[in-house]
Amino acid sequence: MRISFCCVDSRPEPWLDGLRATLPQAEVSLWASGAPQADYAVVWAPPQQFFDEQTRLKAAFNIGAGVDALLKLRLPPHTALVRLEDAGMSVQMAEYVCHALIRHFREFDAYETDTREGRWSFRKPRVRADWPVGIMGLGVLGKRVAKAVAAFEFPVMGWSRSQHAIEGVRCFAGGAQLIDFLSASKVLVCLLPLTSDTCDILNRRNLSQLQAGGYLINVARGAHLVDDDLLQLLDSGHLAGATLDVFRSEPLPAEHPFWRHSKIMLTPHTSARTLREETIAQIAGKILALERGQSIRGVVDVGRGY
Ligand code: NAP
Ligand code: GLV
Repeated sequence: MRISFCCVDSRPEPWLDGLRATLPQAEVSLWASGAPQADYAVVWAPPQQFFDEQTRLKAAFNIGAGVDALLKLRLPPHTALVRLEDAGMSVQMAEYVCHALIRHFREFDAYETDTREGRWSFRKPRVRADWPVGIMGLGVLGKRVAKAVAAFEFPVMGWSRSQHAIEGVRCFAGGAQLIDFLSASKVLVCLLPLTSDTCDILNRRNLSQLQAGGYLINVARGAHLVDDDLLQLLDSGHLAGATLDVFRSEPLPAEHPFWRHSKIMLTPHTSARTLREETIAQIAGKILALERGQSIRGVVDVGRGY
């Protein structure tokens, strides 16, 4: 069995060593143009040339959860595209979102300013019931985040494409229930995949539906958010702030106003990192299952876009 590795932005050696150690029966190599046909691929942002040449792949394993960049490429017709399912990402996402939520709710951001300015000032405690948290996307990551937020006793709302039933979460589904979901939320967390249906979903019309003084946490993809609409809603005071981990252009260009906005906290696309050992274990398990003729989870529905 041949496995081809083609991941930009990743040092290949530890991945190649890890794959070889976990699948000793496989011939694992770093892809180069003209390489022999492989059975499986492990990829992150490969060039189109990779799929143009590797036409006999049974499956291509993305080493991330989001496949929006891969779906811009032409894939060989019989290759299954497999995304990463959790592999240590959901707990990171839960801690990131809870940190952003609690930092804002408990006004640690304001206390940081007070401390810097030598001010000893108490703020009035906020009432948790007045801070309902809405989570867009109830997949692998959204569900884990909902559970973590509920553990802090915030009211939790969730929105997905199909109807879900999750204990402790008020679930909404589909376009018909989007406005009800948004207007029941004060803090909005985006954990949707980027598809033609969800691009620009964090726009002025939708964000205006959040309760006054709302807060946005975008940890999905930059193209979910219409940047100027967020800036206008922050400046008008309808939104109190935002924590952003993802951007339309990454790295965020130096001149972008998000860098200097006092109501925006930003991080460099780091809310849930791919963990190499967990990822290799998951991919190896799926390759072995496919070799045994079994079906696997995490196969992307290309038509749906996630
Ligand atoms: P997932 O398991 O595929 O879950 C996607 C969820 O979004 C599902 O609940 C799905 O609804 C819902 N959804 C999709 N299209 C929708 C639509 N048009 N309307 C309403 N709901 C819709 O994905 P995941 O593993 O949780 O990951 C989510 C995203 O997080 C990834 O695609 C990626 O972009 C992002 N991510 C970011 C980072 C980071 O470091 N910032 C790390 C990992 C992932 P159904 O349940 O009805 O199918
Ligand atoms: C990271 O953004 C991922 O999709 O895994």
